Amino acid sequence: MSFEEMWAALLPVGRDDATGGYHRFAWTPPELECRAWFLDEARRRDLTVEHDPNGNMFAWWYPADGTRGDAVLTGSHLDSVPGGGAFDGPLGVVSAFAAVDRLRERGFAPARPIGIAAFAEEEGARFGVACLGSRLLSGAIDPARARGLADADGHTFAEVMHNAGLDPEAIGPDEGLLGRIGQYVELHVEQGRALREPVGVASAIVPHGRWRFDFTGEGNHAGTTLLGDRRDPMLPFAAMVLAAREAAERNGSVATVGKVRVVPGGVNAIASSVSAWLDARGPADDAVRRTVAETGEAARAAARPHRVSVDLAEESYTEIVDFNLALRDRLGKALGGVPVLPTGAGHDAGILSARVPTAMLFVRNPSGVSHAPAESAEPADCLAGVEALTAVLDDLARG
Ligand code: GLV
Ligand code: MN
Ligand code: MN
Ligand code: MN
Repeated sequence: MSFEEMWAALLPVGRDDATGGYHRFAWTPPELECRAWFLDEARRRDLTVEHDPNGNMFAWWYPADGTRGDAVLTGSHLDSVPGGGAFDGPLGVVSAFAAVDRLRERGFAPARPIGIAAFAEEEGARFGVACLGSRLLSGAIDPARARGLADADGHTFAEVMHNAGLDPEAIGPDEGLLGRIGQYVELHVEQGRALREPVGVASAIVPHGRWRFDFTGEGNHAGTTLLGDRRDPMLPFAAMVLAAREAAERNGSVATVGKVRVVPGGVNAIASSVSAWLDARGPADDAVRRTVAETGEAARAAARPHRVSVDLAEESYTEIVDFNLALRDRLGKALGGVPVLPTGAGHDAGILSARVPTAMLFVRNPSGVSHAPAESAEPADCLAGVEALTAVLDDLARG
């Protein structure tokens, strides 16, 4: 299967034809279809499939001499955000299979294993914590907490894993597997407008996190309840959204409220509660922390006159990630010099970098849009990405 054939096979999976957006949430039917596709591609190439305890999948090309350690791992993820683009995640996985094919066509014999990874729940779109699979693998989240994470229907991660045939009690750091990974190189579509050439190398991921605001008031009738009698959680929620924007502007960060849950959600009922999720990111830790703290203060101040309570909880936080300098330089040399750029997007590579030397390749995104259907990459740039990844794997897995 060529790059184009693999891409065409995945393209319809989980796509909403009305909007062009993808809905591939961990262990839902479209994501399971992507997983089946991954396993087929691995088997088609006689790669050795490995499932870790955390729902991550690996396809290994082992050297003939049986070497298992010091592997070069590449890949990405197959899940999506709600209504996401086609490239975020799958481009890295498809490119990895295509790069392995190119190496084989050239008769390349790796001195170290080359692995292709598909990490579980990278977007956190189902259970709320981004990069859940790589966090569990690398020990960046308490397994007990992960087991208790619930999706929008109240199904826990433990329940969903069990139903997928995995043992939720076995999740957590896999030191044996981590110990076999020498380097991880993730190829990904660039998610903004920063990359002007077909391929670039990532320098860093900015600090970022997710916070949950719960506003609790009192449900009541939209017609009969006097304004002065209301405890309407929607009002401080609205103030909080505006405050987040203003705090981000003051602190040189970015802040987004992209998800909100209104209970009970009736047109003719004052809400009893509103939950809203704040995503905040910035160039430095203190800019992000100040943005969140100032938004929290504004939310509480706005809630008081309406007799609404506010709970603010951090759901996840990732400190700045500076990718491994030696590996970055090595990629740059293997590619003959390409742009080096930081990103505001999170990745499994950022999580794994705490445990394994890690680097990333970016492929240009002419729309500059991501996490939305307009996310794009030109076919020629995708092939340039495959070529670059091939050169990197060749360099890293050679004798
Ligand atoms: C994941 O793609 C993120 O950056 O939120
Ligand atoms: Mn994403
Ligand atoms: Mn991604
Ligand atoms: Mn991501």
